[in-house]
Amino acid sequence: MNYRAPRGTYDILPEDQAHWRHVTETTRRVCELFGYEQIDVPVFEQTGLFERSVGESTDIVEKEMYTFLDRNEERMTLRPEFTAGICRAYAERKLHGRPQPLRLFTIGPAFRYERPQAGRYRQFYQIDVEVLGSQDPAIDLEVMQVAWQIYEAVGIKNLSFQVNSTGCPVCRPGYVEKLRAWYADRLDGICADCARRYEQNPLRLLDCKKEACRAIADEAPRIADSLCDECRTHFDRLRSYLDDLGRPYEVNHRLVRGFDYYTKTVFEVWAEGIGAQNAVCGGGRYDGLIGMVGGPETPAIGFASGIERIILTMKQEGIEPPGVPKPRVFVAYLGAEAKSAAVVLAQELRAAGVGATALWEDRSLKAQMRQADRLGAAYTLIIGEEEVRNGVVMIRRMADSTQASVPRSEAVAAVKEGNTQ
Ligand code: HAM
Repeated sequence: MNYRAPRGTYDILPEDQAHWRHVTETTRRVCELFGYEQIDVPVFEQTGLFERSVGESTDIVEKEMYTFLDRNEERMTLRPEFTAGICRAYAERKLHGRPQPLRLFTIGPAFRYERPQAGRYRQFYQIDVEVLGSQDPAIDLEVMQVAWQIYEAVGIKNLSFQVNSTGCPVCRPGYVEKLRAWYADRLDGICADCARRYEQNPLRLLDCKKEACRAIADEAPRIADSLCDECRTHFDRLRSYLDDLGRPYEVNHRLVRGFDYYTKTVFEVWAEGIGAQNAVCGGGRYDGLIGMVGGPETPAIGFASGIERIILTMKQEGIEPPGVPKPRVFVAYLGAEAKSAAVVLAQELRAAGVGATALWEDRSLKAQMRQADRLGAAYTLIIGEEEVRNGVVMIRRMADSTQASVPRSEAVAAVKEGNTQ
């Protein structure tokens, strides 16, 4: 039987790790620079949590969740995103009792049963950043700055920041009615998906990707013209902060995002040249969500960014990540007695903090040297029977193939300090 990785999943092989490390380590560094603390939430949660928070009529809940009955007949779902789980933790673990706002980030896999293509997978990885407990637009700006700074630190240049406001329960219903009325005369021109959206979730009419639907959406009434005073002031403030920072962004009236929990600010970051799935980041404010999952009414905002799409963009822009550390020393030996000495030497090296490996397969010296080369070791320490007898070790510096014999007692310090001649 030949098994294959499930459709829409992939392996992150050793040679892929440099990119992954660069992105995750940069994310941690930037988040901590802004004072964000790491949180980790379960990979699966009760299905109801996502139905309630993401929204019953969203694509995710309708057709993309990995849902199963556990052995206790409880409905569970592999997380399709992090925001719901983090809000559940905030309510359940009473994180509102801590100094607010609470600035959090997390990194891990999420699962959506989507049609796989470049940049779209069924298991994918997200960086997720959330601030809970503040309604100030300066926090909206800060969250966007975290995203900016991560991309900048990773080295990505050509990104486009898209911003919009989706209003709140006070002003959105009026806008949705206006939108519905406007579309009522245009139902013939829209696709079958949009016909369904018209009934169930009219806001999503605005972000259909089909050409004909887009042309209609472009002409549709704009939510910006229907915002209540509070939402308008909030959006104006955010835009003035963005202007002060001098970073380019675009107000995109068709940006609504595919979750029901958003209120006020929504934003996305797009990368050109990575194909149809060009959103590297999406986020927004969700002031009603924590209250909805059992916590006190708490305003919050956050974003998530797909690591695969960040890496695609890096590759597109020719950004080389720093290399992954390799073992500094390869230990080669010839003969049984030397092998015992090599085992002890390798362990002494590691105890001294020097990365060390060996073949342990009793191969020829030539085969062992080839392996040392392949692994990119800086030094090979060679022990034969003569070296054991004389209490010495041969040190070979791989860069220039120079060799020197040093007393066994000095070998670890010599390679650690790079002082081998
Ligand atoms: P989202 O827009 O669904 O938002 O996902 C955020 C990002 O995750 C996308 O921009 C994309 O980079 C990546 N992504 C989503 N689906 C896939 C997929 N199937 N394959 C590869 N990458 C994917 C959220 O998840 C919200 N929870 C964001 C948020 C946090 N809003 C507030 N706080």
